[in-house]
Amino acid sequence: MPGDIPDEELRRALHRAADLIADYVGGVGDRAVLPPIAPGEVIASLPARPPKTAEPLESILDDYERLIEPNVGHWNHPGFMAYFAISGSGPGIVGEALTAALNVNAMLWRSAPAATELELLVCDWLREMVGLPSDFRGHINDTASISTLLALAAARHAQTDLDIRRLGLAGRAEVPRLAVYCSDQAHSSVDKAMMALGLGHDNLRRIGTDAEFRMRPELLAEAIEGDLAAGLRPISVVATVGTTSTTSVDPVPAIADLCREHRSWLHIDAAYAGSAAICPELRPHFAGWERADSIVFNPHKWLFTPLDCSLLYVRDLDQLRSTFSLVPEYLKTGDSADINLMDLGVQLGRRFRALKLWMVIRGFGVEGLQERIREHLRLARKLASWIEADPSFELCAPVPFSLVCFRWCPAGVEESELDVSNARLIEAVNARGPVFISHTELDGRYVLRAAIGNIRVTEEHIRRLWRSVREESAALE
Ligand SMILES: Cc1ncc(COP(=O)(O)O)c(C=O)c1O
Repeated sequence: MPGDIPDEELRRALHRAADLIADYVGGVGDRAVLPPIAPGEVIASLPARPPKTAEPLESILDDYERLIEPNVGHWNHPGFMAYFAISGSGPGIVGEALTAALNVNAMLWRSAPAATELELLVCDWLREMVGLPSDFRGHINDTASISTLLALAAARHAQTDLDIRRLGLAGRAEVPRLAVYCSDQAHSSVDKAMMALGLGHDNLRRIGTDAEFRMRPELLAEAIEGDLAAGLRPISVVATVGTTSTTSVDPVPAIADLCREHRSWLHIDAAYAGSAAICPELRPHFAGWERADSIVFNPHKWLFTPLDCSLLYVRDLDQLRSTFSLVPEYLKTGDSADINLMDLGVQLGRRFRALKLWMVIRGFGVEGLQERIREHLRLARKLASWIEADPSFELCAPVPFSLVCFRWCPAGVEESELDVSNARLIEAVNARGPVFISHTELDGRYVLRAAIGNIRVTEEHIRRLWRSVREESAALE
């Protein structure tokens, strides 16, 4: 009889996988953050053709251990500071493993009662943890990119007179150009949403920012007025709390006023920083976000939940439902449940992501999570203080959360040469192995970026980073 592998083989493999996971997570900090391999090496080390016959899981796990595990970029490494952390914690990893075993598709309450209800519950928990009012309801998507796409689809749908859901946009001379606004620091996922929704990239207005990389509301007001005068219809503003390059915070209260005046949908992208709102003393950064129509933040960025897990909150769930709900006959159940998660977005099949998030929140408790976020802020301030104290370096942006932007500016080196010097420095630092940082461009200057947020990061890792930066810069001089 064909069928799955024998139960005993599965059990043996899972025991070994449990050891592999615990050994990997426990020892990841002893590795270089990036594997020392060149493009194509992994593929060259694997058979080009699929196996004709079954192989024992034992030998597949041997190959995993030999060829796959050592050749990933180690996002769980405490020296991984290049991008927002995405560290999976123990409770989150266990949750993810169990999700795979259950393999439920949380499209309908009927098909996955516990998955549906746990998703609603953890979203309510997190809403309370970050201090949002109880009229916000959340659900979980894979990424902030998709959450933002759904929010902008709802903003587009809110233009009820245009009936875009039914009639679309193409070929309709009576439909004005629909404009969306965000700052020049907003994430590229907003651009992609414009393209995917047929709103058109050219209709995204990137508004200028101030010296601290925050959207300038007076420029936003000007842009909206100019567009109205030119016959465009402003439909949404995306404000960012915690931008990608510097974690700057747009002035949400002033933006919310403009949105109210122009009846535009306010979407808040707090993909990285949203998790920090669980610390009450950081809430001033989030002032006004409770006035939004929708908010996204990603527990997979800074709440120690394995990729992927992005929460989208909306003030009125019916706005998502009326944008997306479409129930083919085979999915009609007649249940009294008021939520079928498939109604809230594009996808039908949905992973059971709430389980790992529930385990993370329970496994650390709210206080444990707050403690870790506060420690990351402390480490970021420490690194910033070392940079400020060293005349060969400069801090390039304020540090409201746990990201530090800086550059090397040694005495006697011309401004025009600093970009190249810093590009060489980052290459040398990353080649050394124990830390991995990234760069960005601020005001046309090449700037280094250290994102602190891994659950295993300690002061020693920050010291190691600073030592690498100083020693490598000295070697380049
Ligand atoms: C502010 C912000 N928004 C959106 C995103 C996109 O996140 P995701 O990878 O979940 O789509 C990022 C990624 O770093 C981000 O920093």
